[in-house]
Amino acid sequence: MDKKFTILGIESSCDETAVALVTSDRTILAEALASQQEAHAPYGGVVPEIAARAHLTQIDRLLAPILDSLHPIDAVAATTGPGLIGGVIVGTMVGKAVAAARGVPFLAINHLEAHALTARLTEPVEFPYALLLVSGGHCQMLRVAGVGEYQLLGETRDDALGEAFDKCAKMLGLPYPGGPVIERLAQAGNPAAIPLPRPMIGVAGSDFSFSGLKTAVRLAIESHLRQGHGMDDPFRADMAASFQAAVGEVLADRLRHACDTLAQHAPVTSWVLAGGVAANHYLRGVVEAAIAPYGLPLYAPPPRLCTDNAVMIAWAGVERFRLGQADDLTAEPRARWPLVALS
Ligand code: KG4
Ligand code: ZN
Repeated sequence: MDKKFTILGIESSCDETAVALVTSDRTILAEALASQQEAHAPYGGVVPEIAARAHLTQIDRLLAPILDSLHPIDAVAATTGPGLIGGVIVGTMVGKAVAAARGVPFLAINHLEAHALTARLTEPVEFPYALLLVSGGHCQMLRVAGVGEYQLLGETRDDALGEAFDKCAKMLGLPYPGGPVIERLAQAGNPAAIPLPRPMIGVAGSDFSFSGLKTAVRLAIESHLRQGHGMDDPFRADMAASFQAAVGEVLADRLRHACDTLAQHAPVTSWVLAGGVAANHYLRGVVEAAIAPYGLPLYAPPPRLCTDNAVMIAWAGVERFRLGQADDLTAEPRARWPLVALS
């Protein structure tokens, strides 16, 4: 499709309610986001029931200015999975309703596909590229050959990386979401202060595992407290720095394995870093250094497009609509929807 078009994007799969209007020539006409982080903070993680209700109360307020502007909308793209089903249902139903009311096509967007394609909105990323997707719910490496063409290179065998950051923060008595707090505290800490394991280093393939690291953090905290020390800021900073250093070494090793495999079997033009954890500057540096010897550039969307947002959903809609794709209004919300199943 050569004609310029505009897509309305809706995201509600976790703890962010968001809407955005994005054009096929990469202009973000509008974006609005309401985070529920404060509502979930006391629980140290996202509470599905609270999330679903919050999406319901926020979404109309966010959408109203876009709909009132009477800006032409050529299709509506909404996250229909994977995610917390209550929230996914809210976004899906609102998206279908707007599509039906405006008489335009509906696009059922896979949230992971949106994370995977976002970098193409802001960076000069060409297919095929390799993707490290690290968020609160997901941790995978993929080869992206085209829209809808995803090949799994490796994934976590237990916790997602963002989840590991969040749990580490919770054990240190820090607020949710833990990633940004750990990153900030780590700057003042000694990365060699607390010995932690580097799970999966040297293991064939590119899978991850973070539950052992999480247990090691818990044991180190318990031992520190048993020795009569308090949970003070210097200890928190040392733990944050030690945890981040362990994560960095694991990521670098897994990336090198993936680069070796890709170089042999299926070369790529670049690496893309996506998902909430991609907002971490320290890890961005680690990833860049790990892939540099392979001559591959690293692209990452700006931090606000790394964490959940609706611009990425609208952009995934642009990518699919451009190929003439659209979905039926019977498309169902899905709690689980592996990206590789799209291929
Ligand atoms: O992509 P996202 O917003 O939601 C999911 O789809 O999961 O990712 C949220 C995750 C949280 O676990 C959060 O702690 C983590 O991304 N995160 C970070 C940083 N900013 C957000 N992790 C490490 N460093 C950060 N700066
Ligand atoms: Zn996400």
